[in-house]
Amino acid sequence: MSFVARIAAPLALALACALPAAAQQKDKGYEPQVGQAGKDVIWVPTPDEVVDRMLRMAQVTANDYVVDLGAGDGKIAIAAAKKFGARALGIEYNPDMAKHAQLNAEKAGVTGRAKIVQGDIFASDFSQATVITMYLLPALNLKLRPQILSMRPGTRVVSHSFNMEDWEPDETSNLDGRRAYLWIVPANVMGNWILEAGGEKSDLAFEQRYQKIDGHVALGPVHAGLRDTRLRGLAIAFAYVDHAGVRRDFTGRVSGGRMEGSFRAENGAEGRWHAARK
Ligand SMILES: C[S@@+](CC[C@H](N)C(=O)[O-])C[C@H]1O[C@@H](n2cnc3c(N)ncnc32)[C@H](O)[C@@H]1O
Repeated sequence: MSFVARIAAPLALALACALPAAAQQKDKGYEPQVGQAGKDVIWVPTPDEVVDRMLRMAQVTANDYVVDLGAGDGKIAIAAAKKFGARALGIEYNPDMAKHAQLNAEKAGVTGRAKIVQGDIFASDFSQATVITMYLLPALNLKLRPQILSMRPGTRVVSHSFNMEDWEPDETSNLDGRRAYLWIVPANVMGNWILEAGGEKSDLAFEQRYQKIDGHVALGPVHAGLRDTRLRGLAIAFAYVDHAGVRRDFTGRVSGGRMEGSFRAENGAEGRWHAARK
């Protein structure tokens, strides 16, 4: 056997063995590693039971458009579509991961409702979302906070593990030591309004810090403090005690520079009310 033949035969054999292995490797596709670097935060998936609680505490339905900021393998967007029938979008910076997540959506049979796209959450428009989900970092939540607060009132925001500092959550759930937080984007009611109820007009003023409101209503020289105030998205409630010592309770909805609803007084009086921004 010549030298060339002696070298060529084992080489050909080695190549023949190596080729199927290489093909097999390719078939396996991209395998993300927990802890791998991301643009602003590493990839760690949210456990299934926490994903479930996040979507349930946001009360996701088929009418929702859920956007997961930093989608990883797409599991939150896929669960929103598969379990709750929502439309869902995942935004993932890592292009390989975004492709892998989109493949997962295909495998889950939800591509009609869930999509994972490559993008930077800090350069993406997610203003149409009715529900935002995230598992990021405290500093990233804070960076996103102004954009989130400018979203449509009533938008629900859920975050795994990390809160938003002085914007207190509307709900905190615990699951095996893991926390999930919910916020509901509040309407802006801060400032002065004219309240009309039962044929009477009064000045009404609200102070507001996120979803927490307080205020007073002018009853002649008295600025009567509001009681039991509540703002949940567009839904507002407050009460005050009038000149005669009768408590009046108001519930209603905010719509831009107007709010309206119904009131009920302890003396049995009831009716509609509305208020307009001054
Ligand atoms: C902690 S993982 C959470 C994944 C998924 N949301 C979950 O809860 O299972 C964060 C993901 O955000 C991605 N990411 C980091 N910075 C990003 C950015 N600026 N824009 C989009 N995605 C980003 C990472 O690649 C990673 O997949």
